[in-house]
Amino acid sequence: MCGIMGIVSKKEILPAVIDGLRALEYRGYDSVGVVWQSGEGLRVKRVVGRVDKLAGEMDPAATARSALGHTRWATHGAPTECNAHPHRDPSGRFAVVHNGIIDNYAELKQELLAQGATFSSETDTEVIAHLIARAYKGDLLAAVEEVLPRLVGVYALGVMCADEPELLIGARKGSPLTIGLGDGETMLASDVVPFLSHTRQACYLNDGEVAVLRPEGFEVRKEGKPLTPDIRTIEWSAEDAGREGYEHYMLKEIYEQPKALKTLIDARLSLPEKGLPRIHVPEEDIPDAALDTVKRIVLLAHGTAYHAAMIGRLLIERVARIPCYPEYASDFRYRNPIMEPGTLYVVITQSGETIDTLSALRLVKDTGHPTLALVNVPSSTMAREADYVFPLMAGPEIGVASTKAFTSMVAALYILALRFGIRRGTESEASLRRRAGDLLRVSSRMHEVLLKCDFLKDIALKYKDKEHFLFLGRGAGWPLALEGALKLKEISYIHAEGMNSSEIKHGPLALVDEEMPVLFITLKGERYDRLLSNLNEVKARHGRIIAIVSQDDEDIHQHADEVFRIHDDCGVMNSILCSAPLQLLAYHAAVARGCDVDKPKNLAKSVTVE
Ligand code: AGP
Repeated sequence: MCGIMGIVSKKEILPAVIDGLRALEYRGYDSVGVVWQSGEGLRVKRVVGRVDKLAGEMDPAATARSALGHTRWATHGAPTECNAHPHRDPSGRFAVVHNGIIDNYAELKQELLAQGATFSSETDTEVIAHLIARAYKGDLLAAVEEVLPRLVGVYALGVMCADEPELLIGARKGSPLTIGLGDGETMLASDVVPFLSHTRQACYLNDGEVAVLRPEGFEVRKEGKPLTPDIRTIEWSAEDAGREGYEHYMLKEIYEQPKALKTLIDARLSLPEKGLPRIHVPEEDIPDAALDTVKRIVLLAHGTAYHAAMIGRLLIERVARIPCYPEYASDFRYRNPIMEPGTLYVVITQSGETIDTLSALRLVKDTGHPTLALVNVPSSTMAREADYVFPLMAGPEIGVASTKAFTSMVAALYILALRFGIRRGTESEASLRRRAGDLLRVSSRMHEVLLKCDFLKDIALKYKDKEHFLFLGRGAGWPLALEGALKLKEISYIHAEGMNSSEIKHGPLALVDEEMPVLFITLKGERYDRLLSNLNEVKARHGRIIAIVSQDDEDIHQHADEVFRIHDDCGVMNSILCSAPLQLLAYHAAVARGCDVDKPKNLAKSVTVE
């Protein structure tokens, strides 16, 4: 996903824009560039590669009070210098940076070519610079507002013009864009992380809105009319978004899980000396009265969030006895789904910007069904568009591989299940109290698990050169197996497959030999015997077995080559505890293989284009 960072100020800002681009690196990119007002028109520097390379090639004498930077994740056109942003018109007086896709750029380009235009890139973005230059009659805002209705597709834009050096224009349609209000400077960025060290006063643009930024402040407009901007104070500090001494954001976020879980659970759940557990419901969450009309629940998500949804189904059906259906949002939205009355639709998303999940949310909202967003980024698009919001409160998650957001999603789904269970009386008070106790214990148990995880580094070093891995589990262990495989794939690039262990003998067992490491999630529970027989089926084919097991499991070591023990006294929340070894196995394998852990190749932190 591309990233935008711009500043217009009364003082020098080029280094700050470059630093802002570094803060956007987690979004994934392959080229980067910056345009600035040099005093003699616009100057541009673009490179293929990292922000450090751009910084190293910048003219050290360059200064500016207005600049726009961009990290590009290639969609139209290969990752080359000429396709990198910013893009200018032939005169060089207008520059544009863009996140998104202009669906009708080919016809616009043909129209411009017919008028004699010449292009220097293969991108859709360059077309916008040409259109603005042709519409310009001395007023950049007017030119931008004239061009925008011609653009079909998704965009977050930053625009500047050599003739109006103290002006930046931002425009949003379907791709996030935020404004930061500083002291004598105003910032334009894809999200708040790049300007948190300057200000925590932010305004999130909505679709169709245009922002006009000047050093002393900004205004927001829609369809040519001024709006009152919704300025919010961001709860996150720059430190929250920083690495704080960890080698990678992912490692920091793995070790932040006990704190993130405690923050969420303590904010939402309490267990009095006697009586039912108490669930605290903030005003933005779904009110109790709305729970009573719910007859079924559909969970919409992708990737790691979908794996959390699969665990959520088990929790909700077990505790609340409500039919619950996890769905890939993209599949749901395109299959003309049957939308039955009494259905609550829950989108589960870390970023709140995943386009497939957002589009499914919008489809549901058009039909009038209630929607709830379990979302980590406050004020994200889904946090603002869903009817109700359950904030995950995990703090900024920068690493592309989602970790703390995943475990917070599972905890949040358990809290939601408990809410329904308490409201409907589906379980005894004693059972509900026990479940609340499990949740209240999980943060400290996660801390204990993390203390033992150095062992995973040994396993990772032993198996880092393997080409394939299998992850197997049953019940909640099945989505955990999928999640463990996804983590390993996406950051170490080792091919891995997760599956329900009952499936192994329906085909995948043919893959097993002495070269195949197979990780089993085999905590003691109702399916333990079945898991043990699956494990022995693999052992009989000389598969190398790594098992995540219960603390008190005394006989598993006869069957497994490596055993990682979990103090599993958190009931169904033990699934959260198993996440840590899976995350760290992937992390250490990726580091050992020299992979870019926080910015894995081809990936983006949030998939805002289909
Ligand atoms: C998880 O490690 C991946 N980065 C990816 O699968 C992610 O979970 C998915 O794209 C959904 O993102 P979201 O939670 O921000 O909607």
